Amino acid sequence: MSHQADRKIETAVPGKTAEALSKLVSAATMISCNEPLAKRTTLRVGGPADLLVEPASEADLAQTVQFCQQQSLPFFILGRGSNLLVLDGGFRGVVIALTQPEFCRVEVDGHTLLCGAGAKLKVVANEARRQAITGLEFLEGIPGSVGGGLRMNAGAMGGALFDVVASVRTMDHTGQVRELPPSAMSVEYRRCGVLEKHIALGAVLCGRAGEQTQIQNKMQEFSRKRWSSQPAAPSAGCLFKNPTEIPAGKLIDELGLKGTRVGGARVALEHGNFIVNDGGATARDVCALMQLIQQRARAERGLALETEVEIVGSDV
Ligand code: EPU
Repeated sequence: MSHQADRKIETAVPGKTAEALSKLVSAATMISCNEPLAKRTTLRVGGPADLLVEPASEADLAQTVQFCQQQSLPFFILGRGSNLLVLDGGFRGVVIALTQPEFCRVEVDGHTLLCGAGAKLKVVANEARRQAITGLEFLEGIPGSVGGGLRMNAGAMGGALFDVVASVRTMDHTGQVRELPPSAMSVEYRRCGVLEKHIALGAVLCGRAGEQTQIQNKMQEFSRKRWSSQPAAPSAGCLFKNPTEIPAGKLIDELGLKGTRVGGARVALEHGNFIVNDGGATARDVCALMQLIQQRARAERGLALETEVEIVGSDV
């Protein structure tokens, strides 16, 4: 019996596509059809993906992206879904998640950490603490993966991920792999130009020799700050990038919008730049609330709020 025959493929409209792809990748790569995405995002809204692929290796990932290119199938890489809004109609294409062990490694070498794109930033911060490596404490509070964090140069507590990146392993959409230094990656506030067209496979992060108790204290202090200023209810993190004039959260607060609700979506009371899902929110509710905020910011303060949250999928 072939490996492909062992693989579980749910039958549905995208079943044929899944079957064709399954012939190109190893049996350890997981493929599922009509996979609900809401449970894979921290905001917990949105429809299903036609196909969800969890490659077992870089070779299988390369096969998957080449397949998507050949079949003209849209695809995107799903991280931990912490800064992501999936629309209610779901994603008509292939969602690739780097969740398998090959992509989730965190290996320490001196004061550097070799991290797979699927590793959680919190796990990286904890490993650095365990090894008495300082400089990575701020990662504790970012609820995403290394890959997602690189893609948007995620930050917290005055630090941003690229502050500690020595190099990034990338794959282009033909499957070619390269190691790039940050200087070659068009890095800006909450943006990495190169990763808009390339996939992050992992990164080498650099810290310095530190003292474990001090590292621990710093992480606890960051955690305390975060929990006292940000909501615990399901959200997608900060919705908008901070305009240069004023932090988005402060602006939304000053506009008196905290607590404003559309359906099950509500502007958090703890921090103006978060929308929380009170249960039963739809992506449509969240979008309507975001638009309302943007309109008020433009009309009353002349400011254009740019979304930080990535929005994917279709409305229906
Ligand atoms: N503020 C208010 N009212 C609010 C929210 C904030 O007056 O409702 C004020 C605060 O008092 C502070 C200023 O606005 O004086 C900035 O607020 P905060 O310190 O919370 O930082 P932020 O700029 O709103 C950034 C990141 C967060 C990160 C925090 C903590 C962005 C868009 N956001 O928030 O990142 O967790 O710093 O360091 O850069 C994310 O990117 O998803 C995210 C949550």
